[in-house]
Amino acid sequence: MSNEIIKIFDTTLRDGEQSPGASMNTEEKIQIAIQLEKLGVDIIEAGFAAASPGDFDAISKIAQRVTNSTVCSLARAIDADIKAAGEAIAKAKMKRIHTFIATSPIHMEYKLKMTPDEVIRRAVNAVTYARTFVDDVEFSCEDAGRSDIGFMKEISDAVIEAGASTINLPDTVGFRLPSEIGAMVKEMSEYTKGRAIISVHNHNDLGLGVANSLEAVMNGARQVECTINGLGERAGNAALEEIAMALKTRKDIFSNFETNINTKEIYPASRLIANITGIEPQPNKAIVGKNAFAHESGIHQDGMLKNRETYEIISPADIGLDMDDTLVLGKHSGRAAFKDKLAKLGFTLDETALNSSFERFKILADKKKDIYDDDLRALVTNEMTKSTQVFELVSLQLMDCSNGVPSAAVSIKKDDETIIDASIGEGTMDAIFKTIDRISGYEGKLMDYKVTSVSKGKDALANVTVKVAFNDNEPAIIGHGLNIDTMLASARAYLGALNSYLSMEGMLKLRKHDSGKTV
Ligand code: KIV
Ligand code: ZN
Repeated sequence: MSNEIIKIFDTTLRDGEQSPGASMNTEEKIQIAIQLEKLGVDIIEAGFAAASPGDFDAISKIAQRVTNSTVCSLARAIDADIKAAGEAIAKAKMKRIHTFIATSPIHMEYKLKMTPDEVIRRAVNAVTYARTFVDDVEFSCEDAGRSDIGFMKEISDAVIEAGASTINLPDTVGFRLPSEIGAMVKEMSEYTKGRAIISVHNHNDLGLGVANSLEAVMNGARQVECTINGLGERAGNAALEEIAMALKTRKDIFSNFETNINTKEIYPASRLIANITGIEPQPNKAIVGKNAFAHESGIHQDGMLKNRETYEIISPADIGLDMDDTLVLGKHSGRAAFKDKLAKLGFTLDETALNSSFERFKILADKKKDIYDDDLRALVTNEMTKSTQVFELVSLQLMDCSNGVPSAAVSIKKDDETIIDASIGEGTMDAIFKTIDRISGYEGKLMDYKVTSVSKGKDALANVTVKVAFNDNEPAIIGHGLNIDTMLASARAYLGALNSYLSMEGMLKLRKHDSGKTV
C-alpha cells in the first residue's frame, strides 16, 4: 500500500506576513511564491485578497505565475471578501478559497456578537458562495482549540454539505497541548471520514506549534498549515521546515506518511524569507538557525570527526545547506561562472536581472575578500525584488560626527537629473534620512530600523531593513539596503522604502483603514 500524503499548506505570505514588521511588497511576495512552489508545498496561501488592493494585486500575480501548487486566498465569511478572493485567484491553474469564522464561545459572544445558529448560517452562505468561484473550498473553525467539539461537528456537517472539502481546526491562540490536539483531531477526522480532509493550523504561543501538528498527523490530520521560519501572528505558526524534517527524519514513526516537500529547498527558502523580511531565525532555531549544525564542544567535534552520526541526526545537505560555501569566484570571474553559480543556488534570472546582479557582484568582489553563498543569495534577492527606482542613490558623503555636528551630503538621481543636498542631524543616520527627505520632498517617519550581517568577517555585508511611514494615514513601508558600509546600506534601505511607497501610492490611497488583518 502506498504512503499517505500529508498536504503542506504554507501560509508565510498570509499569517507569516502578520508577523510584526514582516510586510512585503508585491515583487517580494512573487519571489517567495516561486520558491515555495520549488519547495513543493501543496497549497500556497498567497494572502488575504480583501485586505487591500496591494494584497489583491500580489495574489493575482502569484496566481498567474505559480502552476504546480494550488494558490489560495483567505476570506472572512463575508460576500465581499469571498468575491475578492475568487477574483484574485481566478487565473490560477489550481485554486482554493479559504473562508473562516470563529466557533469558540468567547469569539462568538464578544467578537462576532452572533448566536451559534447565526454562525452556522454565515458559514454555509460563505462556502456556498465560494463554490461559485472554485471547486476547492476550505473552511476554518477559528479558535477551534477553544471550541465545543459538538458544535464543530454540527458546523462541519453543514459546510461539507455546502461544498467544503477541507475542514481546518486552528489552535488560533496556541493554547492546546499535543494530547489535546491529538484527541480533537481524532474525533473530528473519524466523524468526517471520507467527507473532508482534516487540517490543523497551530500557533506557537506555548512553543508547541510543531509538536501539536505532528500529533495531529498521528491522529488523522492530512493537511498541516505552517510557515517558513515559523513566522506568523504573535509567537508565530508551526515551522514548515521543522514539520517536514521531523516527518522525514523520524520515518520509523511516520512510516505511512509522506510529503511532497523537496527538503533541499528548505535552506534557500529560509534565507529568502529572512533576507526579504529582515527577520532572522533565532541562532538556535531548529533546522535553519545559524547554529543548527554548529558543533562547539571538543567532545562533540571529536565524535563528529569519527562518525558524523554521533551528534548529527540531519545532514545539512538534506536541507540544501552547503557547509563549505566559500565562493570560488572572485573579482576576475566571468559572467558565465557567475551565472552557473547562481543556477546552483537555484536562481534563474532573466538577462536584465543577471546583468545588474553581475555588476553588483563585481563591485562587491572588489571590496570583500571572501564571498559566501549567503552573500550571493542576499545580493540577488535584493536585486530581484527591488521596485521601480524613482530615486536612485548616486553618492553619499558623511562628515566626522565624533566631535562636530553630524552631517550628510547626498546625491540622488531622478529621471535624468542629479540632485545634491546636505543636512545636519541628531546623528549620522538622521542626517542621511533628513537629506533624502529634502531632496525627494517626502517626509518619512522612521518606525523601525534593523541591521543584520549577512555572513561572517569584518567586511560582512550589512542588510539594513527600515520601516518608514510617509503618511500618517497609511501603513508604513519596508525598505532593504545591502552594502558593506552600514550607512550606505541604510541610505539605500530608506530610498528603497520611498521607491516602494511611490510604486504603491495609488493603491495605498484606496486602502481601507481597517484592513481586516486582525485574524
Ligand atoms: O489562526 C487562525 O485561526 C487563522 C485562521 C484564519 C485560519 O489564521
Ligand atoms: Zn493563524
